[in-house]
Amino acid sequence: MTAQQKLYEGKAKILYTTDDPDILLTYFKDDATAFNAQKRGSIQGKGAVNCAISSHLFRQLEAKGIPTHFIDQPGTNEMRVRTVKILPLEVVVRNIAAGSLCKQTGLALGTPISPPLVEFYYKNDDLGDPLLTRDRLLLMRLATAEQVEQLQSMALRINEILIDFFQHCGITLVDFKLEFGLDAEQKIILADEISPDTCRLWDQSETDPARRVMDKDRFRQDLGEVESAYQRVMQRVLANPVSL
Ligand code: TMP
Ligand code: ASP
Repeated sequence: MTAQQKLYEGKAKILYTTDDPDILLTYFKDDATAFNAQKRGSIQGKGAVNCAISSHLFRQLEAKGIPTHFIDQPGTNEMRVRTVKILPLEVVVRNIAAGSLCKQTGLALGTPISPPLVEFYYKNDDLGDPLLTRDRLLLMRLATAEQVEQLQSMALRINEILIDFFQHCGITLVDFKLEFGLDAEQKIILADEISPDTCRLWDQSETDPARRVMDKDRFRQDLGEVESAYQRVMQRVLANPVSL
């Protein structure tokens, strides 16, 4: 199986066709962007680290019954995935207040959120990925009412599995972003990646608010030691085997 044609290049990944139309090859880049690409940079080794973390977490989710696009990891920066039609939605799950939630609501950083909050954002760079209400989402026909219910319940189940897994890594899962796609039978499948680029992860052995951050907030907020934080997440994730 060889990469053929570049299908799409995003901020952090490149998608290639393969000789099988049902399979695509994702290449994870070291490029990093934040604030809708207003801040640009590179995190050395990030592509390989995010590919390894995502592959492991997709395997874990599959083992727990979540359908994902993951097939295998043929190279350090490469993931073979099932071809799906990506829904133009970013599904964010929050367990602890941080980021845009704090900015938009005034909630203090670190406020526990129970039950977890599921939010939908419109994946559209020109509009700055705006937060959607359920009614706006339906109005725009981005998903059906039934699909919204299913996305919500899948996101909450994924949250339970990931909280538990990261707990074994000594990491608190603060929040994360998911993307989903539809397969040929219109079934909803988890897609994209799950990595320190798309999650907020706090080291449970650190109490200092700047030192505990193990995710892309180190890059967004210029906290330094970005590469080593990503490496530490990878080491801890890979040290915990996929379990049924
Ligand atoms: P937010 O607090 O900025 O809305 O981010 C919520 C979560 O979503 C956080 O874990 C980072 C992740 N995220 C992405 O993966 N991509 C994005 O473009 C944004 C804005 C957030
Ligand atoms: N990935 C997004 C971007 O560059 C935003 C972020 O993760 O903060 O634009």
